[in-house]
Amino acid sequence: MRLRTIDDLGDLAGRRVFVRVDFNVPLIGGEVADDLRIRATLPTITELLERGAGLVLASHLGRPKGEVVDDRRMAPVARRLEELLGRPVEALEEVVGEAVEAACSSLRPGEVALLENLRFDRGEEANDSVFADRLAALADAYVDDAFGASHRAPASVVALAERLPAAAGRLLQREVEVLGRLRDDPEEPYVAVLGGAKVSDKLGAIEALVERVDALLIGGAMAFTFLAADGVEVGSSLVEPERFDEVRRARKLADERGVLIQLPEDVVVAPEASLDARRGTVRATEIPRGQMGLDIGPRTVEEFARTLADARTILWNGPMGVFELEPFSAGTRGVARAIAAAPAFSVVGGGDSLAAVRKEELEGAFDHLSTGGGASLEFLEGRELPGIAVLEEGP
Ligand code: 3PG
Repeated sequence: MRLRTIDDLGDLAGRRVFVRVDFNVPLIGGEVADDLRIRATLPTITELLERGAGLVLASHLGRPKGEVVDDRRMAPVARRLEELLGRPVEALEEVVGEAVEAACSSLRPGEVALLENLRFDRGEEANDSVFADRLAALADAYVDDAFGASHRAPASVVALAERLPAAAGRLLQREVEVLGRLRDDPEEPYVAVLGGAKVSDKLGAIEALVERVDALLIGGAMAFTFLAADGVEVGSSLVEPERFDEVRRARKLADERGVLIQLPEDVVVAPEASLDARRGTVRATEIPRGQMGLDIGPRTVEEFARTLADARTILWNGPMGVFELEPFSAGTRGVARAIAAAPAFSVVGGGDSLAAVRKEELEGAFDHLSTGGGASLEFLEGRELPGIAVLEEGP
């Protein structure tokens, strides 16, 4: 299968192009708190503008579920994009309707408009054909650069791509290339580091990765489900007992395949996840009652770093602890540094891990920062993503 790209769209001079982006970014105090996803789409936007197109950009933001929610408006995103692009971006106040049609039909080459949050309209998540028709009427061609949303099937990703000449933007193209390399042909040793709160969010990825990696390093609260499934007492740490069977199955598969699963040897514990909680570091098998594991300990960081230093390919998704609270951030920081220092081809995905990388100013030390959270993991699991499938052609 071949992914159609913007090279396939031909002459765009004087044409209007609808660009679906994933500007689902964190906002704090009405301003964009992390603009990685916006910056990542600049190569596509700039290239299309240079080719003489006028652009209708559109994204979802948060989960407003078909209602207009004021703090989920796109205006702050438009402001940030304007700064980054160095040219005006017209923030439209509606998703569809006469005013939107008028603004888009008068777009000239080099001009940029941003539609209001697509999820303000129920038609978006319903992949509604009437809504898609209205979006299609705004442009002559369609480009999807919203890799982060490619595991969903809303109207602006699927139905719209079926209505206009459609292609992947440069970001989507690169994500597919890089993650495709990890999925299909990783240089070995291939080491995956997974973290985050819930094992249930990552089980699909764990099962798929066990088939491909040489080592799986597990941190974050999800490690406690692994430990507890082994019969270890983990105090009041977060555990998902309903997942024990799947976790045991994954471990068995790993054993059969000779895949090393590394769990924390020591953990930072406290009675609760708060800044002033009294904390200590204990062996992972000796967590006292009433204490919960909130970060991996220094010994674990060292052990993980040792494995990472020998890797040729590294995938990281999910923090090692409650890293947004300084007392429980050292494990995530240590892993970020160890990956940055390793000579491997390194890919990091997931909002929290990316935030940690940025906080440590290590962005340049990774080979690829994936803008997908759920989308990257589903891609690596080998699942068909609707937003990609609709842009593929051929056998
Ligand atoms: C993301 O942030 O992972 C994507 O924008 C998808 O958002 P969603 O999980 O709300 O569909």
